[in-house]
Amino acid sequence: MGRYLIKGGKPLYGEIHIQGAKNSVLPIFAAALLTEEKVTITNCPMLTDVENMAEILRSLGATATISDGVAEIKAEQVASYEIPACLAKEIRSSIFLLGSVLARKGKAKVAYPGGCNIGLRPIDIHLKALKEMGVKVEEKEGYILCDAQEVEATAITLDYPSVGATENVMLLASLTEGTTTIANAAQEPEIEDLEQFINAMGGKVSGAGTPFIKIKGVKSLVGAEFRTMGDRIVAGTYLIGAALCGGELTLKGVNPEHLLSLNGKLSKGSCKVVSKNDIIHITASGKVEALDDVVTQPYPGFPTDLQAQICVLASVAKGSSLVVENIFETRFKHLPELIKMGARVKLKDRVAVFNGVDDLYGAEVNSYDLRGGAAMVLAGLRAKGTTIVNDSHYVERGYEDIVRDLTGVGADIKKI
Ligand code: UD1
Repeated sequence: MGRYLIKGGKPLYGEIHIQGAKNSVLPIFAAALLTEEKVTITNCPMLTDVENMAEILRSLGATATISDGVAEIKAEQVASYEIPACLAKEIRSSIFLLGSVLARKGKAKVAYPGGCNIGLRPIDIHLKALKEMGVKVEEKEGYILCDAQEVEATAITLDYPSVGATENVMLLASLTEGTTTIANAAQEPEIEDLEQFINAMGGKVSGAGTPFIKIKGVKSLVGAEFRTMGDRIVAGTYLIGAALCGGELTLKGVNPEHLLSLNGKLSKGSCKVVSKNDIIHITASGKVEALDDVVTQPYPGFPTDLQAQICVLASVAKGSSLVVENIFETRFKHLPELIKMGARVKLKDRVAVFNGVDDLYGAEVNSYDLRGGAAMVLAGLRAKGTTIVNDSHYVERGYEDIVRDLTGVGADIKKI
């Protein structure tokens, strides 16, 4: 397993081009199954999770290639309706395939999905919504068997704005006759990307980005070319990196509106954040003022996927700072690692209270999940001395090349 070796204490200066969004491209890959024709996806991040998703599509009978940020998928025939357990266990996004495979094959068999180990991550909301559309669901020996012979458009109200459940319904409803509506839908920007992709294929989806989405089913969808949006979580990670280390970063290829909840926190600290079009510019002194309380919420609230990274900032912010995790129950595995580096933090249930220290110190620390691993890289950049972050494969699930991005702006980091 790879590790990162980081010599901390260097300010970050320069420009980073932000990769395409993982959480956009994964459901878009699932949506590619909805048409027999070829789809081309550009700005596709080169990630292990994305390659895994391509492998699942191939196992279902599609062709899928990814090279230099361009993915080409053609699902002329979907030969199988079973998503292999060994592949599904690797990524939680395999669950989106339920909607697409049902739409194409009328039935689906999927193993309980995997993904980062950050809590229970049940799929009851997905299954309830599919059942409301008339899908018969049977859960058996770790598998979910679905039959969509009597599927029909309907009005669905989600109990919680689950990102994945919203996307799954959009996928199945796109090829289901009649109009399906989703109330209390998730409003994440990645859902708008999925809407645009489905519509580029000839679909009729509206309302993504609001809590009410309307999907008019069409008979068939056609091939399309689509550019994935920039990854707001990767951009947010680097903004926090600049706030921690000081310096001046220009991030290109990301929509600044997607990061307003983070920018609000950074601007109240010692950073100046200026945005224009798809560019965000941050100037930071490296001295971190007290942070406003951070409370993770569904979009447009503060993203759970940036919670671990902002914990590093909270650990060196003046005075005490509060970070509350509302989305996933066990997403604080990075705290003991931060404590090894000198952070002072107490955790009770889902609330972490930091007592800011002046400096972090290099140590050997572990990644336990994707964003927690990225947070430890940030801690290493800020720390005095040398840090080793174990298990870099977690980070590689979501960051195309964190070493390339950070060395390009002056950090001393390498993979060993
Ligand atoms: C997506 C993102 C993930 C992000 C999360 C929340 C992708 C590939 N992943 O995950 O990076 O952290 O949104 O912004 O897009 N829940 C249930 N039952 C369900 C579904 C969800 O209880 O059927 C719970 C989950 O356990 C979790 C919360 O709802 O506590 C949010 O889950 P959801 O919005 O569905 O997230 P994902 O789509 O899994």
